[in-house]
Amino acid sequence: MATEIQEQPAVWRRLLAAAGEDSDIARAAALVRAYQPRFVLFVARGTSDHAALYAKYVAEIVHGLPCGLVSPSTMTAYGARPDLTGVLMIGISQSGGSPDLVQSLAAAREHGALTVAITNNAGSALASAARAHVDIQAGPELAVAATKSYTAQLLAVHLLLAAVRGEDAGSAAPLPDAAEALVAGDATVAELAQRYRFASRLVTTGRGYSYPTAREGALKLMETCYLSAQAFSGADLLHGPLAMIDPQVPVLAVAAEGVGGAAMSQVFPRLAEQGADVFCIGTPDTVAAADAGVVLPTGVPEQLSPLLEIIPLQQLALHLALARGGNPDAPRGLRKVTETL
Ligand code: F6R
Repeated sequence: MATEIQEQPAVWRRLLAAAGEDSDIARAAALVRAYQPRFVLFVARGTSDHAALYAKYVAEIVHGLPCGLVSPSTMTAYGARPDLTGVLMIGISQSGGSPDLVQSLAAAREHGALTVAITNNAGSALASAARAHVDIQAGPELAVAATKSYTAQLLAVHLLLAAVRGEDAGSAAPLPDAAEALVAGDATVAELAQRYRFASRLVTTGRGYSYPTAREGALKLMETCYLSAQAFSGADLLHGPLAMIDPQVPVLAVAAEGVGGAAMSQVFPRLAEQGADVFCIGTPDTVAAADAGVVLPTGVPEQLSPLLEIIPLQQLALHLALARGGNPDAPRGLRKVTETL
C-alpha cells in the first residue's frame, strides 16, 4: 500500500502522456460526442463507486447532464431491463471482474445504452462487455486497499469527460508535481495518525467534488484500521448525524479551495459546538482553524482537487493501521477481487 501510494504521481504522468489524439480516451470520447447522451448512469462497487460519484459531479456540473448511480441488483437479482435509449452507461472497476458490473453493462448495451468501461485490466470481462474501453494504466495493484487505481480512475474520468467537450489534458498537467509534495509529507501524516490510535468511531465529511473523497477516506479507514467510519456530505451531516458527534468521535473534514470547501464554513462552527476533534484536509486557513490537518497545494482547480485530497487520507489509513498493529496490505477477511451479483 505504501509503495502504491507513492507511485501515484508516476501513474498520472503515464496516463496523461497516453491521452493523446489516438488514444482509447479519444476514441471513447468521439463515440460519446456522436451519441449525444441525455442521461448518464454509472455502475461500480467500493472504491470504484467513489470514482463514479466523482464522475457524477463532473458530468452534472460541467456537462449539465442528469446522472445516476446504478443499483446493480435491479438488473442482476431482479432482472429489470429498462429501456436505456439515449443513456450513456459507464462502468468503473479496477479489476473489471465483478459479475454484477459485467451483467449490468451487457444488459444496458442490449437495451439501447452506449456503454463505456474504465478499468485497470484491458483483458477483463467488463472491458469486453462495453462498446468502448478506457485503460487507466495504473499497473498491477497488489495491496487489497485500492489507492493508485482510485486516483487513476479519477484522472481517466476527468480526461474522458474533458475530451468529450473537445478539451485537452492541459489543466491536469500540474497534478503529478502537486501530488509529489503530498507524497513527501508521509512522515508528518504518520505522526498525526498517532492521535487516532484509540478511536473506535470516526466521521468523514466534505461537500461537492470533495464528498467522494470523504466516502473513499472512510472506506480506507474501515478496511485497513477496522474503524467504524461513516461518511456524510457536509449538508447531510447537519440533517441529523451531527448529534452523534462528541469529543470521542474525531471528524476528518475536506475543505479545498472552491465552492465545496466554502460550503463547509457552515459545518465547522457546528462541529466546534459539539466539541469535535477536527482533522482538516484543506486550505491553509481551514487547517489552521482545525485541531490537526494537512494543507493542500494551492491554485488547483476544484474539479481536480479530489485527486490530491485523498492522498493524506490514504497515508492516514496506512499509518493508523500500522499504529494499531494491523497489516494494511492484507486486511482480514478481504480479497483483492470481490465478485458480487
Ligand atoms: C477498497 C477496494 C474495494 C474495490 C471493490 C471494487 O479499497 O479495493 O472496495 O474497490 O471491491 O473492485 P473493482 O474496482 O475491482 O471492481
